[in-house]
Amino acid sequence: MSQSKKKTGKVPAVEVVEEVAAAVETPQPAEIKVETKRKLLFVASEAAPFIATGGLAEVIGSLSKAIARDPKYDVRVIVPLYQDIKKEYRKDFRFIGNIFVPLSWRNQYCGIFEYVKDGVTFYFVDNEYYFKRPGCYGYYDDGERFAFFCRSVMEILGFLNFYPDVLHCHDWQAALAALYLKTIYCFRPEYQFIKAVFTIHNIEYQGKYSLDILEDLFGISYRYQYLVEYDRCINLMKGAIECCERFTTVSPTYAGEIKDPYYAHGLDQIVRRNEFKLCGILNGIDPDYYDPMTDKALFANYSADDFSPKAVCKEELQRMLNLPVKPDTPIIAMITRLVSHKGLDLVKEVIEQALRQDIQFVLLGTGDSSYENYFADLGRRYPGKVVSVISFNSDLSRKIYSGADLFLMPSKSEPCGLSQMIASRYGTVAIVRETGGLKDSIIPYGAGGNGFTFHDYNAYDMLYVIGEAIGVYRNKAEWEKLVKKAMTTDFTWAKSAKYYDGLYRGMMK
Ligand code: GLC
Repeated sequence: MSQSKKKTGKVPAVEVVEEVAAAVETPQPAEIKVETKRKLLFVASEAAPFIATGGLAEVIGSLSKAIARDPKYDVRVIVPLYQDIKKEYRKDFRFIGNIFVPLSWRNQYCGIFEYVKDGVTFYFVDNEYYFKRPGCYGYYDDGERFAFFCRSVMEILGFLNFYPDVLHCHDWQAALAALYLKTIYCFRPEYQFIKAVFTIHNIEYQGKYSLDILEDLFGISYRYQYLVEYDRCINLMKGAIECCERFTTVSPTYAGEIKDPYYAHGLDQIVRRNEFKLCGILNGIDPDYYDPMTDKALFANYSADDFSPKAVCKEELQRMLNLPVKPDTPIIAMITRLVSHKGLDLVKEVIEQALRQDIQFVLLGTGDSSYENYFADLGRRYPGKVVSVISFNSDLSRKIYSGADLFLMPSKSEPCGLSQMIASRYGTVAIVRETGGLKDSIIPYGAGGNGFTFHDYNAYDMLYVIGEAIGVYRNKAEWEKLVKKAMTTDFTWAKSAKYYDGLYRGMMK
């Protein structure tokens, strides 16, 4: 028995599990070391504010922070140490050690760095061969890079002597962490009680590889081929769904949609078979990070109580983009990756009809060259009405969120979507298609809601709703009520963090 257990007694005012409390005998509270926190580790390929290419990073950064507010949790996050991790943070990372990680026949160096932010401990996995490259993805050896990352995660738990109650893996790049846990590490006593959750942020990206490399590259025995094989390929997302105790998606509606072949990119059968362990929890946004009252990128700051300075944001945006300064002309904005599931085909089909009305259209984004060319050309053909900025620029995005009147998001599928929430928080009313998280966060104006919606993936339904929105915009009193409603909708993590807490607790029983 340990020294602390010999001389113990009265239990301090902390929540202690009964058997542990019973083992405590004499009154030396300072020496009592009882682990009462629920240990949670997020495994992901990116995390804001350190490195972000999309919504995944924002969710990892803001959800971990929201859960860490609950003192019952010890929340940690682990991501690769990419070359592009922001210098302002990197300079303060603390090197805590290095190990060698076995990956099939390889044995690779792995440095471990640590940084604590908002109550969350972040770990960064260092290996220059794999991660000292520009960007996060898109390399021929991404499979090997993320296999190394996931295998490192497993080894780092031993190095840290930190065995989480729940290992929460996000998207295919982290799927192998769950697979390694359930096929290799669970046979070691320290790892045997770790439960795994897998969250699908977008089912389109599954991590598919040739079966030949299962052992040689991923270091998974062919004995487990049945777990990862799908359609005669290795499918890492499928493997994680099969072997996790629970799997989730980022909105309740999307959880229903991925059972349907229309949305599931081939995995509907697997989702349906594992439906008993699926749930959908809506993402939130960090209200401090997106606050029109304090956002320094804005031309003027405002709140839901007084959003009159939003007019200044609009005027300055028009000036900056060389649009005629017209306070009463509604600006419809899109900030999006230019890829097909964002509903850009609908926009292409009817935008010129919409432009017959007195509106201005602003688009910010990059992506497939066919869309980039189309929107750049649209801007040239409608000077003074359309501005397409084919790039990504966070500062300009915030100026658009605050300066526009309407925010268009007609996605064909949208697991959650964060832009509609950010726009609403900045008083820019969303027009969305009723899919995934768009449906769960934007309630139609006609039903007393906070935005405009249409159901079918149909360009003319979208055009009709744009018309409806412009009609309401022209009615100043109604419009102000709607803007206020959008701004005061609760998009924080408060509710969803409770659902995650329930999910984790259910698994820890
Ligand atoms: C993915 C999804 C997006 C979601 C984000 C965060 O990028 O496409 O809808 O909001 O992940 O979960």
